[in-house]
Amino acid sequence: MKILGIETSCDETAVAVVEDGTKIISNLVASQVDIHARYGGIVPEVASRQHLLTIIPIIGQAIAEAKIRVEELSAIAITIGPGLAGSLLVGVNVAKAVALAWNLPLLGINHLEGHIYANWLMGAEPPTFPAICLIVSGGHTDLILMEDHGKYSLLGRSRDDAAGEAFDKVARILELGYPGGPAIEQVALLRHAPVYHLPRAWLKGSDDFSFSGLKTAVLHLITEKGGVQQQSDGEIASLAGDFQEAVIDVLVTKTIAVATRCQVKQILLAGGVAANRLLGETMLSRSPILVRFPPPSLCTDNAAMIAACGYFHLQADKVNGWDLDVIPNLKLG
Ligand code: KG4
Ligand code: ZN
Repeated sequence: MKILGIETSCDETAVAVVEDGTKIISNLVASQVDIHARYGGIVPEVASRQHLLTIIPIIGQAIAEAKIRVEELSAIAITIGPGLAGSLLVGVNVAKAVALAWNLPLLGINHLEGHIYANWLMGAEPPTFPAICLIVSGGHTDLILMEDHGKYSLLGRSRDDAAGEAFDKVARILELGYPGGPAIEQVALLRHAPVYHLPRAWLKGSDDFSFSGLKTAVLHLITEKGGVQQQSDGEIASLAGDFQEAVIDVLVTKTIAVATRCQVKQILLAGGVAANRLLGETMLSRSPILVRFPPPSLCTDNAAMIAACGYFHLQADKVNGWDLDVIPNLKLG
């Protein structure tokens, strides 16, 4: 069963064809990163206009690359939130038009649920339940207990900055460019050993996270030292590396604690920050429980994960009508 997935929640116009929720037939991502990089972050109106320009050609290209006829498709899966309202609206309206024209069912997908389903696209054995999912993206840091397909309980979340947001803001403080996660990861490779023990907000007794204090600590340090321009490359690498290590220490420690308490079979990582190599390696080395995470290209925003998630919605008869609307602040669990 082949499903066409469409993802336009933020600054990536993505379209994919996935078979049986597990096999990628085609997977295209048109990134706007170069356009937004000059502003140091995403400009919502620029993002929705760019989606408008790109979406129709990329749908045609995804079908052409999949070498299928549209008659072979079983449904259209589309992200309805969370995300930027204007960007989501472009995707949802195009998905409706395509579903109507091709007489296909429409599946509205939560972007965060989609991120989790990237773990079904790895060709190996599918994940087993119950699992703890750590979703770490630009807008979310959520710890979710997944007991079955579609059965989620939110156990913890960030009370302030999301993990990816903290990476982006600290990269901006250190003048490393946008997006911040990959920039910090790259620069941190030049660090030899930890220098600063930056604060970790453990929020004892809670499964929540907090990263704004850590971000402020980096800002104070750099200000005390006379600003970014006064620092050597080695100093910037130390700050970036120590920041990255502090974020990962908290994410890994709290995720393993929750997974152990809930006696789950697996830990699933998802979202853009899960593309960070040190996060994956640290989780693998410290966890007594099996850890899975997708390759970097399936951690960051893509439409294959939306199509994969759509397959399981279709199996559960979760089909939406033409009144499907965007929900920019949609939650999971
Ligand atoms: O899931 P995603 O692509 O989009 C959202 O749904 O937000 O996540 C984007 C976030 C950005 O904050 C970006 O800086 C971060 O993921 N990110 C990373 C890495 N690659 C992307 N953070 C740390 N290390 C990375 N390698
Ligand atoms: Zn995302």
